[in-house]
Amino acid sequence: MSDHKVIAIDGAAGSGKSTLARNLARTVHLPYVNTGLMYRALTASAIRNGVSDDDVEALIDLIHGLTFTLGGSDPRELKVEGFNERELTTPEVERSVSRVARHPRIRAWMHEVQRRLGANGAVMEGRDIGSVVFPDAVVKLYLAAPRGARVDRRTRERLREGPDEIAAELEARDDLDARTNPPTPPTGAIVIDTGSLDSDATLRTAISLILEHAPELVP
Ligand code: C5P
Repeated sequence: MSDHKVIAIDGAAGSGKSTLARNLARTVHLPYVNTGLMYRALTASAIRNGVSDDDVEALIDLIHGLTFTLGGSDPRELKVEGFNERELTTPEVERSVSRVARHPRIRAWMHEVQRRLGANGAVMEGRDIGSVVFPDAVVKLYLAAPRGARVDRRTRERLREGPDEIAAELEARDDLDARTNPPTPPTGAIVIDTGSLDSDATLRTAISLILEHAPELVP
């Protein structure tokens, strides 16, 4: 049976997932769950507490101190209590998040929370939503773009770092993330190449695909 109200959006860092997912969530009036924030929050917590990204037991202890909720409006979205966006996107977090996210026990715990958060429908963004978390999502989108385009997008978003730093960080993260989740579209996903699309064009493309596959989701 398909998960009728889950839209899965997967893809690499800098492919435009977050912008599309938030815009789509507003359009279809579903909550927006950015699952990357959950792994980032655990990483930021490990950094705050001096816990190594290899120490699974200590990381599991830290997970229990994290609170994930849906809050705000237009769209309602995932919030991590006690962490602001700036703290979740520091270069230190970017450097170790893939190592924190690689542990199967941590992933299993996150998956359970993600399934609860999406149980009543959601636009879910991540790396393994269409393959593992909601394999029966009614629509699965996979965003792809050449690394150069992803570096350009990230450089515009992250004013604290230059393009060379961002390129090195993205390459390292791509390599580490590929060991945990293959950087390929999950079964049944529709690929959108965002390399030459701006955010409006990406949203229009996604909405026309959703109209084709799950028209009931579009008001
Ligand atoms: O999506 P974002 O780039 O913010 O994700 C940060 C990191 O969290 C990724 O590089 C990856 O290591 C991890 N992640 C994951 N599975 C997800 C979402 C994110 O492993 N579903």
